[in-house]
Amino acid sequence: MEQNEVGKAKPSLGQPHHDHRNTFSDLDLSRWKEYDDLLTGSLWLLGARDKTGPHIGDYWGNFVPQIPNQILRRFTRRGEIVVDLFSGMGTTLIECRHLGRHGIGVELSPSVAEQSRQRIAQAENPDAVTTEVLVGDSTAPETIARVREALANLGSDAADCLFLHPPYHDIIPFSDDPRDLSNAPDRQAFHDKFRQVVEHARDLLRPGRFMALVIGDKYTRAEWIPLGFECMQICREAGFQLKAINVKDIQGNERGKGKNENLWRYRALKAGFYVFKHEYVMVFRKPL
Ligand SMILES: C[S@@+](CC[C@H](N)C(=O)[O-])C[C@H]1O[C@@H](n2cnc3c(N)ncnc32)[C@H](O)[C@@H]1O
Repeated sequence: MEQNEVGKAKPSLGQPHHDHRNTFSDLDLSRWKEYDDLLTGSLWLLGARDKTGPHIGDYWGNFVPQIPNQILRRFTRRGEIVVDLFSGMGTTLIECRHLGRHGIGVELSPSVAEQSRQRIAQAENPDAVTTEVLVGDSTAPETIARVREALANLGSDAADCLFLHPPYHDIIPFSDDPRDLSNAPDRQAFHDKFRQVVEHARDLLRPGRFMALVIGDKYTRAEWIPLGFECMQICREAGFQLKAINVKDIQGNERGKGKNENLWRYRALKAGFYVFKHEYVMVFRKPL
């Protein structure tokens, strides 16, 4: 192998070599040029929402399917188990079926969970993986015990990948349930609940594996609240290693604002603020 300028061995790209794999994905890096749709940069311009199959995009607050697709292909292997502790309309679990990963989702709202089950069941499932949505509060230890049971039914004691896409505090009210993170009465209460979920995520995840946090910021009383960075810090304090702060373009996928673009622009110019055009897809690793 060649040496680079700091004396480290340089990988010989494109040559057959026993080291062209990692332990956490199915990527064959001797064919790395074939993965040109896999993002490796921190600016995520994903374009329009993928609306194929049962991905509909009518649930206010669901993420675009390209997010779990990117994360699953880079950080999981076929047949592994993915847990999403805020599964909503099941976007992650639909992608799990498309890509041959087992999926366990937790969703607080029974009606949303039921609708998501119907959508997930319509997704193609060529590898006949198992996907299950549990109704429960992800801050509650008893819910996590049920996730462990579901893992045990799949023959495992840990998840191979974790997704967290919590409410961005109160910007979208998801339900009237006081356990819903979108009903946390103030930011401290939101942080406390989020911390409980992160600690559960850490306990469920296999050491050495990856967690994706999808989150945006918010405005309160004319002040930009960096909810994303606050939640990132909670993950780091729980022992996760930060691997990426990816900035995802949300233009075209925002609700309500599209038609009022000029009005928001006018307000921003007048009042001295900037209109949100991004959210974050942060990636963390649980240390070995
Ligand atoms: C931003 S959405 C997730 C959307 C999901 N990624 C999708 O694509 O459909 C957040 C979800 O978390 C749920 N939720 C809020 N508090 C919860 C809690 N304590 N436990 C479990 N789910 C909760 C809400 O009902 C909502 O469906």
